[in-house]
Amino acid sequence: MFSVETAASAAYIVAALLFILALAGLSKHETAKVGNYFGIAGMAVALVATVALAIERDVEVLGLVLLLVATAIGASIGLWRARVVEMTGMPELIALLHSFVGLAAVLVGWNGYLHVERHPGGDEAQVLALQDLLGIHSAEVFIGVFIGAVTFTGSIVANLKLSARIKSSPLVLPGKNLLNLGALGAFAALTVWFVIHPQLWLLVVVTILALALGWHLVASIGGGDMPVVVSMLNSYSGWAAAASGFLLENDLLIITGALVGSSGAYLSYIMCKAMNRSFISVIAGGFGIEAGPASDTDYGEHREVTAQEVAELLGAADSVIITPGYGMAVAQAQHGVAELTRKLRDRGVDVRFGIHPVAGRLPGHMNVLLAEAKVPYDIVLEMDEINDDFDDTAVVLVIGANDTVNPAAMDDPTSPIAGMPVLTVWNADNVIVFKRSMASGYAGVQNPLFFRENSAMLFGDAKDRVEDILHAL
Ligand code: TAP
Repeated sequence: MFSVETAASAAYIVAALLFILALAGLSKHETAKVGNYFGIAGMAVALVATVALAIERDVEVLGLVLLLVATAIGASIGLWRARVVEMTGMPELIALLHSFVGLAAVLVGWNGYLHVERHPGGDEAQVLALQDLLGIHSAEVFIGVFIGAVTFTGSIVANLKLSARIKSSPLVLPGKNLLNLGALGAFAALTVWFVIHPQLWLLVVVTILALALGWHLVASIGGGDMPVVVSMLNSYSGWAAAASGFLLENDLLIITGALVGSSGAYLSYIMCKAMNRSFISVIAGGFGIEAGPASDTDYGEHREVTAQEVAELLGAADSVIITPGYGMAVAQAQHGVAELTRKLRDRGVDVRFGIHPVAGRLPGHMNVLLAEAKVPYDIVLEMDEINDDFDDTAVVLVIGANDTVNPAAMDDPTSPIAGMPVLTVWNADNVIVFKRSMASGYAGVQNPLFFRENSAMLFGDAKDRVEDILHAL
């Protein structure tokens, strides 16, 4: 027989399938848009089913009104932020959204405690006690609050670092690994205690402990590893949501949380491999990374060129590789770069792009910008596909990239980005670096490339300089 409960269960399965299709779609950039539509549809189905269930379960009118008002406010803020956010501001927005998931998990956990453990005479607590499930409930509360609080503060620090409101260099407290391990050990012991004897003060202690741990874990990770941190926090937020799903007995939340948790973990793993980083070291808050000596190396003098000189150099070149980075996104120089590419190709110059896996501020950032400017896909190559070709290249244009072309990653074992694979642009005959000053890149380290004999700096906003070159050509 038809009941709202059965219909809601069916709707949850449909929503879960739509979320899986969304993830599948998001895995390729040609299908990413469709993937997003699946995600939106899944979320709409889930929301309608949840509200219908609430009505069926005789939730008070006030509760329902509050639910709808909260949904309307949340949706309006979400739409507004999504419209105004710059592509370059995406990672910090995502980090902020993760912090909301963490905070929600903490609140759900606390709510579970206040309803059940704190209220032993209440219906819920008595049913659970009769079924012998009270201990499991207490464990769910405790673990949910812990993961949620770690995600909450961790994501706030990530947001502050990515938006440059705090320094991106790693915080290195004495004995930082012991602090992290100690916090985990304390969490395990407190969980056992709470399951045996749930008390308010234990929940307060674990909340504070987890808030501090989340802050410390992300503060200890250096700027160069931030891409992995964002996807790691994505994973944590998934597990936090799954923990809430257990507490709220909501299967869809468990499935969705697990999907987000595992896909985020896998993405972190792939990114660690791409950047030659130890996965364990990054998720353990920079485990094994110690403070390196302050770098005050004198690399000598740099050379400057004008747009006119670069145009002459390009006019005489037979092969050009462009390696864009975050600065191209900031300057919104992609259209000029695409125009320059067309002009050079019309003159018979072989022009290609070399894309580093973490160029910009989110995976695929450069590919999206270049696709938007209609640069043909087949000349946009991944780092591994192009790295051997720099030797035979006349001119490399490094447009607003810095860490991703830093030879110190290969030559200097003490560098914070040591071991990270980089585009070996310095092997080309000439390297022109577009940037506004001699300032360092996101990882906060100086780049010896700028001082090499075959390198020259073209200072100024990347968009203006590209246009100057177009005029000169
Ligand atoms: P960065 O190392 O951040 O260097 C970008 C350079 O662009 C800066 O040195 C800056 O120099 C220059 N720039 C900024 N605005 C400019 C403008 N309007 N015109 C010209 N130049 C401009 O970028 P990258 O090489 O793309 O490396 C990415 C970094 O971000 C890596 O450290 C990576 O780990 C990190 N990160 C990546 C991600 C992902 S997933 N991709 C996420 C978070 C962080 P001036 O200030 O002198 O102009």
